[in-house]
Amino acid sequence: MIVSTYSFALPTRIEFGEGIIKKAGEEAKALGARKAMLVADKGVIGAGLTGPVEDSLQAEGIPYVIFDRIVPNPRDTHVEEGFHAAKDEGVDVLIAVGGGSSMDTAKGIGTLLTHGGTVQDWCGFQLLKRPITPLICVPTTAGTGSEVTPFAVITDTKEHVKLNIFDPKAAALVALVDPSVLLGLPSPVMASTGVDAMTHAVEAYTCNVSNPHTDAYALYAIGLIIQHLRDAVASPDIESCTGMMLGSTIAGIAFGYSDVAAVHCMAEALGGRYDTPHGVANALFLPTVTEFNISADVRKHLDIARALGVNTEGKDPETAALEGVEELRKLCEDVGIPKMKDLPEIDPDDFPALAEASEANVSTPSNPREVTAKDYLYLFQKAYES
Ligand SMILES: [Fe+2]
Repeated sequence: MIVSTYSFALPTRIEFGEGIIKKAGEEAKALGARKAMLVADKGVIGAGLTGPVEDSLQAEGIPYVIFDRIVPNPRDTHVEEGFHAAKDEGVDVLIAVGGGSSMDTAKGIGTLLTHGGTVQDWCGFQLLKRPITPLICVPTTAGTGSEVTPFAVITDTKEHVKLNIFDPKAAALVALVDPSVLLGLPSPVMASTGVDAMTHAVEAYTCNVSNPHTDAYALYAIGLIIQHLRDAVASPDIESCTGMMLGSTIAGIAFGYSDVAAVHCMAEALGGRYDTPHGVANALFLPTVTEFNISADVRKHLDIARALGVNTEGKDPETAALEGVEELRKLCEDVGIPKMKDLPEIDPDDFPALAEASEANVSTPSNPREVTAKDYLYLFQKAYES
């Protein structure tokens, strides 16, 4: 086995378990909190998911403010608003409760609290000079993995582009990963976020910046997600929710410390144009792109097929890898992901522009097979016909 030099370190301590959300106050106190800011969207607050966090802060005597200006694809303007509110209130610990949008907004607020300037000043690769404000993340979906990733994706509202603060100093110090928060999640959200987590795992494993540590996380996550996603969508119980929460966090470590690839490049282009939910957009392209990539690394795609439960014994590796692609296709279908043609907003006339946008994505060079705008156009057309 030949392995290139790499380094692997996790800045985030993970506390996993049913009811662990109630430890938020204790963890904030251990971080020296004098005033906390709870970053959560109105839906999460309305669903009662911040209740245990607020109770635990009160029990520890820690005053807190709530910032709820969170939107999907979080914006620089909201990050700046949250920063000013946090600064005025003397906030010294941030607690994000929610999906990727809340967690990424909190990472942005923490960056401005410790570095000043604007979001744009700190977007790029490892530009931070010091750790951001201590951040505790409590994921309420099993998809994004943002509780363990070292980056925040924020939309530049003037330029209409996505910016990325990519730095382990922006990672959460503590992730409170509680599977019981998934029990009330609507099935379409469980389905789309779950396929997002599967895509993180598949792309982390096959991308050309993976390493043996991220590979181990990625393969294990694929196994967990294939085993639990259908049940978590159809009849969520603590067992399936545990499997999904673990799968998502473990996949988060895998792609957070390697990368994603062409599926995400296409999904982000589609989401940017039509606001398609991120997980749905990934699901539309996951089988088609995975099939396209097999020839670049048959062995890794065979491993994926095996992790998905395909009996690969005695089969030609490429045939077995293709059966893995079929498993991914079936999974998306079984959890109710629509077909591309069922989404009326998608216009094939937009495919050339979407292909260009996909090619420009920073993760395009990480795809295991070289992929150009022409290839992306073919992939958009193929996914649309499938
Ligand atoms: Fe994703």
